[in-house]
Amino acid sequence: MLPVECLTILSNPVEASSSPSLLLYPFLPRSPFLQTLPSHTHNHSTNYTLHKLKMEQSQEEPTKKPPPPLRSSPPAIILRRFEPSPSDATTLFSWASDPRVTRFLRRGPVPDSDAALRYITDHILPHPWYRAICVPPSDTPVGSISIKPGPVQEKNTRFRSASVGYRLAHAHWGRGIATAALRAVAAAAAFAEWLQLDRLKAVADVENLASQRVLEKAGFRREGVLRKYVRLKGEETRDVVMYSLLSTDDTNE
Ligand SMILES: CC(C)(COP(=O)(O)OP(=O)(O)OC[C@H]1O[C@@H](n2cnc3c(N)ncnc32)[C@H](O)[C@@H]1OP(=O)(O)O)[C@@H](O)C(=O)NCCC(=O)NCCS
Repeated sequence: MLPVECLTILSNPVEASSSPSLLLYPFLPRSPFLQTLPSHTHNHSTNYTLHKLKMEQSQEEPTKKPPPPLRSSPPAIILRRFEPSPSDATTLFSWASDPRVTRFLRRGPVPDSDAALRYITDHILPHPWYRAICVPPSDTPVGSISIKPGPVQEKNTRFRSASVGYRLAHAHWGRGIATAALRAVAAAAAFAEWLQLDRLKAVADVENLASQRVLEKAGFRREGVLRKYVRLKGEETRDVVMYSLLSTDDTNE
C-alpha cells in the first residue's frame, strides 16, 4: 500500500449549508481539484480546517490514476472565528501593533489590548466574513483574513464581487501561510458562501511585493495599477495594484 498525501478543507454544514466540504490538492489549480466530500460534523461554524488526509492507493486497482505529485507541502492552517476574549485580544494586539504589519494597511497600529478587544467586538464580529489564521496544533491567531462582499449592484441585490484582505504576524512571514489562507478562502469560502459571486478582488500597494506575490501564487490575476487609490492612515494617498480572481478563471494556465 503506497500512502499518498493530500489536503482537505472542511467546512461546517450547519451555518454554511451551501458550502460543501472540499478536497484541495496543494499548490495546484483551484477548480479541477475541488471535490465534494461527505457531510462533516466539525464543531466550528464556517471554519475551514486544512489538515492532512492519508489516502491509500490500492495495489488491487493498478489502473486507478493516482493524484498528481505534490510540488511542495503548504503549511497546515486553521481559519476560525475570533472570540471577544482577553486571549484573542492580547494576541491580536501582539501583531496588529507592529508597524511592519500595518505599513501598507489603512489602519495604523493597534495601541493596546483594550483597543484590540474593542476592534474584535466592534469591527470583526459584525463583519460578514472575518477569520483568524491559526497554525495547528495551536489555536492562537497568527494573522487574519477577511472577505467583504459588495457593493450591491443596482436592480440586483445579490453580491457579484467581494474584497479580500489579510495580514500575518511578522514572525510567521515567508512560510507560505498567507498563500495557504488565501487559497483556502478563494477556493472554499467566497464562491461557495456567496453563490452569485463573479469576482474576488484585492489591492496591494505598489511597494508591497510580498502581498502581490501571495496573490499571484493564489491564482489571482494582475489587472493594473490604480493611481492614488488608497489613503494610508490619513496621510499619503498611494498607488495600488488591482488583482482579481473570477469564478470562471481557469487557474491551470
Ligand atoms: C503580505 C503577507 C500577508 C505575506 O504573508 P506570508 O505568509 O509571508 O506570504 P507567503 O509566505 O505565502 O508568500 C510570500 C511571497 O512573497 C515573496 N516576498 C516576500 N518579500 C518579498 C519582497 N520584498 N519582494 C519580492 N517578493 C517577496 C516571498 O519570497 C514569497 O514568494 P515565494 O513563495 O515565491 O518565494 C505578510 O507579509 C504580511 O502580513 N504583511 C503585512 C500586511 C499586509 O501587507 N497585508 C496585505 C495587504 S494587501
